[in-house]
Amino acid sequence: MATKATTPAKAPAKPAAKPRSKASPAKPTARRAAAKPATAPSVTAVRAVPVPATTSKAAPPSTIKTAATTLTPDPKAVAMLKEDHRAVAALFKEFKDATPARQLAIARETSAMLKVHTRIEEEIFYPEIKARIEDDMVNEAVVEHASAKDLILQIDAMTGKEELFTASVTVLSELIDHHVREEEAEMFRQAKASGTDLDALGERMEARKAELEADKAFLTTGWLTPPKPR
Ligand SMILES: [Fe+2]
Ligand SMILES: [Fe+2]
Repeated sequence: MATKATTPAKAPAKPAAKPRSKASPAKPTARRAAAKPATAPSVTAVRAVPVPATTSKAAPPSTIKTAATTLTPDPKAVAMLKEDHRAVAALFKEFKDATPARQLAIARETSAMLKVHTRIEEEIFYPEIKARIEDDMVNEAVVEHASAKDLILQIDAMTGKEELFTASVTVLSELIDHHVREEEAEMFRQAKASGTDLDALGERMEARKAELEADKAFLTTGWLTPPKPR
């Protein structure tokens, strides 16, 4: 005991702070840790990395531009068409696991929605942008509409009990999904860059949509007549 009391005599100068590091084997680490608090510089250095004065000057502009681009709302015409796309897609998704009765209801609902949607595009949206976007883009879209209409005609005549009923709706959903992807990835992008007043166009489309949705004759057989640009 007396011997130990003698040894500590060397440590008096510094020991006072180091004894706390019970883990003697890790002395080096403990010492560094004890030194850091006092040497605030090391902490400051770490924080300085993400806040480089140089970067802070360049980052803001690009960040703001990205945010602005992302948050810029679509003009009315594009927004309402996209809204239709989402609504139909949601119904087709529900169709997969729906009961037979619900599947038939979904088939009827998507049929009506697509009749109105394609008519608005063919009467108002497509004619307005056709000459201002890539050649044939509108023509290809109309041909795809025709394929969809053929299927819709067949599905409308079904009761839901036919062997091909589910397959017909599934193929229609796939066809529409492909068509929608092309419209949103290319056509709408080009339309927005064309200088067309898509907000004013959207007002006309919205009014026509309300008309068509309330027109039972259109939803029954009128949709089969060729659309006329308005
Ligand atoms: Fe569309
Ligand atoms: Fe379309």
